[in-house]
Amino acid sequence: MRLDRFLYHHSPHGRRAIRPILAAGRVRVEGAIEKDSQCEIGDFTQVELDGVLLRADTPVYIMLNKPAGYLSATTDLQHPTVMELIDEPQTLHIAGRLDRATTGLLILTNDGKWSRQLTDPPHHKRDGVPKVYLVETAEPITQETHAHFTQGIYFAYEDLTTRPAELEILTPRQARLTLYEGRYHQIKRMFHAVGNRVTALHRLSVGKIQLDPELKPGQYRTLSEAEVRSISPVND
Ligand code: URA
Repeated sequence: MRLDRFLYHHSPHGRRAIRPILAAGRVRVEGAIEKDSQCEIGDFTQVELDGVLLRADTPVYIMLNKPAGYLSATTDLQHPTVMELIDEPQTLHIAGRLDRATTGLLILTNDGKWSRQLTDPPHHKRDGVPKVYLVETAEPITQETHAHFTQGIYFAYEDLTTRPAELEILTPRQARLTLYEGRYHQIKRMFHAVGNRVTALHRLSVGKIQLDPELKPGQYRTLSEAEVRSISPVND
C-alpha cells in the first residue's frame, strides 16, 4: 500500500491533510523522515506520525498441536475452532488447514506473504513444500496403493491428477505419506480411490518445520527464527 493511503487508513486525518503532513516532515518510515506519498508500505513496515507508531503489527508465527474435533476456521457456530486455543492479540490466519478430525502440526501467522509460500507456491516451482502425515486405515495398505499414489490419483471433480506422493508402509494399516500439494480432503480421497478408508490422520511436518514433541494436543509455541527462515522464498 502507498504511504498516502496508509496514512489515510491509519490516522484520523482526511485525504487533503495528508500531503501537508508529509511535506512538514511529520512522518517517519522505519525511523527515517519520509515525504514521498508513493513510498510503498509493507505488512510490517513501521510508520510514525508525530512520533506515534501508527501500527505496531509484528509478524507472529505459531505451531499448534491441533487436537481432534477443532475446526481450522476463525469462527463457527457448531464446533470449537483452533482460534479458541490461541491467546494472541494479533489477527492470525491458518497456513494450510486440517480437517476437523485430523491432528498434529497446524501453522498460524499474520504474515500473508510468508504463508503463501506454504499454501500457494509459485507455479515455476515444480513441487510445493512437502507435508508429511501419519495415516491409519480401515483396510491393509497394499503395494498397489503405493504404485497408484506414485503415479497420481485422478480427481474427477477438479479434473486433475494428484502429484506423485511418497507412501512408506509402516504396518499393515499404518503409513507415512508425503504430499507436495494440498487439495480438499486430499488424503481421504486418495485412499477412497483405492478402496480404503482413513481412520486417523496426523500431520508430522511442513517443509523443515516438525511438530514439536513437547507440545501436547492443544498446546502451541512460536516458531524459531530458523523455522521461519526455512520457509522463506528461494530465488530460483
Ligand atoms: N488430507 C485430508 O484428507 N485431510 C487433512 O486434514 C489433510 C490432508
